[in-house]
Amino acid sequence: MKFTIAKLPGDGIGPEVVAQAVKVLEAIGKKYGHEFDFTFGITGAHAIDEVGEPYPESTHQICMDADAVLFGAIGDPKYDNDPKAKVRPEQGLLAMRKKLGLYANIRPINTFPSLIHKSPLRPDLVEGADFVVIRELTGGIYFGEPRGRSENGEKAYDTCVYTKEEVTRITKLGFEYARLRNKRMTVVDKANVLATSRLWRETVQGMVADYPDVEVDYMFVDNAAMQIIQWPKKFDVMLTENMFGDILSDEASVITGSLGLLPSASVGIHTSVFEPIHGSYPQAAGKDIANPIGTVLSAALLLELGLKLPAEAKAVRDAVDASLAADAVTEDIATDKAKAFKTSAVGDWLAEYILK
Ligand code: IPM
Ligand code: MN
Repeated sequence: MKFTIAKLPGDGIGPEVVAQAVKVLEAIGKKYGHEFDFTFGITGAHAIDEVGEPYPESTHQICMDADAVLFGAIGDPKYDNDPKAKVRPEQGLLAMRKKLGLYANIRPINTFPSLIHKSPLRPDLVEGADFVVIRELTGGIYFGEPRGRSENGEKAYDTCVYTKEEVTRITKLGFEYARLRNKRMTVVDKANVLATSRLWRETVQGMVADYPDVEVDYMFVDNAAMQIIQWPKKFDVMLTENMFGDILSDEASVITGSLGLLPSASVGIHTSVFEPIHGSYPQAAGKDIANPIGTVLSAALLLELGLKLPAEAKAVRDAVDASLAADAVTEDIATDKAKAFKTSAVGDWLAEYILK
């Protein structure tokens, strides 16, 4: 089959890690007889430098025309210390989510035995933890209106808005995901305080009868934040709204000790975007030392969810497992630091393993 993949490397280490995922996808194409056509788009700080905006229309068209989008990272420290900057790279991310209709952010949280010792939690608590955070991505307080400042600047406001339709759409995806896993879904909200949370609960409750095989429970977000560190193994699918999901998915990702290895998918109406959960790590840019595995595993998710090629996705995951077992990894996770691989060498190793 022939597929078009939009390639948006972004800033910092983005181009280096995306290049390794491309090598891996090309190896998969060769092995399974697919043709991947990569179309390049600019995003983030370097798009601001080039054309004045972080998600230009030309890039949007490239994404709209693609079967899936492979994304690196965006962000540049020069914006962090400039609260008055008119355009920021992050706005590109929000614009991309809205314009592509990326309503569901999916972050699988799982552990890698060789990295458990890096977890901030006791090994027995995290070993075997395996759950998925599904975060609503285009609604809630991130996008609700009205928002802004009063004229005298003494008051500021953001509005959290959800429609039943938005909640239904993502809940459906949550149920379907749970069916592919252990058939348990925890809905995280703040229904004791927020009207939007009560709409979420009511909507989910109205749908449970259609999924009798899935066990649903409800948890307040403050409690969920505790449970993630007290007993992460209890979760299977965690479904939540935009801002709670932003916070909980970061919390969840660090407990595994393998932040650099975790992928994510943002499922959209028009197309879906696949990216590592780590940032642009500018200090490492251009040094060929960044860990490409989070992006390579994002390419596996792209194959699985974006192109519906599960066997190909598994081949990528198997190659990653083999590279971890062989210590063919970058210095951040290498057991033998003296023999650590460069970023590009990890990509070569994985591509070669797939074609073996
Ligand atoms: C994320 C990020 C973004 C968010 C920022 C950069 C706007 O933290 O993807 O989780 O808050 O959604
Ligand atoms: Mn975040």
